[in-house]
Amino acid sequence: MTDTAAPDLDMATDLPIRRPDANQYLAGNYAAVDSEVTAHDLPVVGEIPVELEGRWLRNGPNPESVDDPAKHHWFLGTGMVHGVRLSGGKAEWYKNRFVIGPEDRAAGVFGANTNVGGFAGTTWAMVEGGQPPVELDYDLNPLGVNRFNGTLDGPFTAHPKYDAATGELHSMNYHWPDLIDHVNYTVVGGDGRVTKNLAIPVADMPMMHDMSLTEKYAIVYDLPVTVNMDVLVAGYSFPFKWNPDRAARVGLLPRNGTADEIIWCDVDPCYVFHPLNAYDAADGTVVVDLCRYDDLMVDDRQGPFAEAPPTLDRWVIDPVARRVTETRISDRPQEFPRHNPRVGLKEHRFGYTSEIKPGQVANLHGATIKTDFTNGTSEAYEFGRGRGGAEPVFVPKADGVNEDDGWILTVVYDATTDGSELCILDAADLGRGEVARITLPQRVPFGFHGNWVPDSSVSPA
Ligand SMILES: [Fe+2]
Repeated sequence: MTDTAAPDLDMATDLPIRRPDANQYLAGNYAAVDSEVTAHDLPVVGEIPVELEGRWLRNGPNPESVDDPAKHHWFLGTGMVHGVRLSGGKAEWYKNRFVIGPEDRAAGVFGANTNVGGFAGTTWAMVEGGQPPVELDYDLNPLGVNRFNGTLDGPFTAHPKYDAATGELHSMNYHWPDLIDHVNYTVVGGDGRVTKNLAIPVADMPMMHDMSLTEKYAIVYDLPVTVNMDVLVAGYSFPFKWNPDRAARVGLLPRNGTADEIIWCDVDPCYVFHPLNAYDAADGTVVVDLCRYDDLMVDDRQGPFAEAPPTLDRWVIDPVARRVTETRISDRPQEFPRHNPRVGLKEHRFGYTSEIKPGQVANLHGATIKTDFTNGTSEAYEFGRGRGGAEPVFVPKADGVNEDDGWILTVVYDATTDGSELCILDAADLGRGEVARITLPQRVPFGFHGNWVPDSSVSPA
């Protein structure tokens, strides 16, 4: 059973009180919502930019029933997509839908629960680790598993990288236990069909959550969180664990190269769920900014955020010297990095993240943080007591000139009301505050990722 009660709040901070005897990832705003809802003409405070014509979408776990809460991991709840359609300055609708049907849910299939976005004219829910993408219609109803029109022979990822120059999706894919000694580098063409699949040998079955892409390289994160048989035998639902005996390395795969041509470089032991962006610098090095953990899941078998909080770091990878220069950009815990998609694969100046509250697993998010990597400065927008924003999705302004000319769309959970809003910030001026606050008819559980899908990029349902 999941705990659907609103959280008890610390009177001094308006933050939920952590209960050490419970699985925090089933409590408070991690708990499932019970039903699929459709609501029209949502209440709005402020003004929704009229240029926003499309859907804000977000995916996350919604664990309906859990046999053994103590052994449940946050990453394994049933996928549920939440969406808001914006049009003409109005919030036309909110909908939330499971990504799989009731029969699969009853059978314990958790479905694609990690990301959702538009590609090749349609909408896809995605997850890593083996389960294939699920296609959704415009109204978020699941259309079933779609292995890219039958061309995907293997696992996929929740974090493909889009190359606007070629129209391709690039992905680094693992699948425990089917891929014991390698991961697959898979490219999907703009027509939604797989064009390339390359096996990359790796040892110990590492959890490979994301990748990076530059104009020259696909970047492989081979890091020491690996399948652990003791965890598996003990009956935990998520069998990956920090492996202190294993090296950490990052690989530069020439995009048209073979696995033998990967340039592997050692890095200090760490884990990375999410890089921000990567690019080829003029001096031949590769620059990537990322959210880095000193270690991960050393003792916590239920989720990633109770131990070492993530920092914002820059890696400069020298493919000639095979050396990585690591620089700490910020100690302030932050995650879910996003950037203006127009600078994807190119040098970026700005990045946007969501503050992570260390030790406050039950109230995961805080401020939206903007980092200027050129000036080495940052600013943050605080949503107020008890309120925190999630992944900051960047939507470029139609007439934008500067890199930060855009809108930040983020879902904000308010622990004092146990409710959620979709909030819009001005990416060039976070201090301006919420340009619009759209009240959602139910809370959106803490989840993972989503995207803005403009109507111009999808085919009619
Ligand atoms: Fe992720």
